[in-house]
Amino acid sequence: MSADVRLTVNGDPVVLPVDGGPLLFVLRNRLGLKATRFGCGLEQCGACVVWIDGEARFSCTLPPEALDGAHVVTAEGLSADPVGRALLEAFEAEQAGQCGYCLTGILMSAFTLLRKDPRPGRPAIVAALDRHLCRCGAHGGILRAVERAAARLAGRDA
Ligand code: FES
Ligand code: FES
Repeated sequence: MSADVRLTVNGDPVVLPVDGGPLLFVLRNRLGLKATRFGCGLEQCGACVVWIDGEARFSCTLPPEALDGAHVVTAEGLSADPVGRALLEAFEAEQAGQCGYCLTGILMSAFTLLRKDPRPGRPAIVAALDRHLCRCGAHGGILRAVERAAARLAGRDA
């Protein structure tokens, strides 16, 4: 049996040797996808969240070998998807964030939410982002950006 792990990352097939590192390190160090961030390494901050087969998951503790055959989307892949593009445009329009360190993880949780529910209310957005820490206190702009993206996708804005 092969020890390789086969994933699709941002639409591209990749084959990875099993080397014991978490998915976050594979994304950043082996695949050069630096948008996904290391914060705590303990599932406590949300900086490392990526989309995996429809769910927002912490990549800092996730062994790639548990994901054979999975589809993964990182922030680098958002522009290839209409929901992702709406989020990127909305975050820019709202100037959401300050230092930006937390934002890629937050974008991936927002992407997961809007892929499941294109018309979430504020409580659903807050719940979806509850696991994310933002040390800059940019929460207001971030919430407005997700609402703006949802409105755009629902055709409620110009
Ligand atoms: S780095 Fe994964 S939750 Fe903080
Ligand atoms: S914008 Fe700086 S941590 Fe969130």
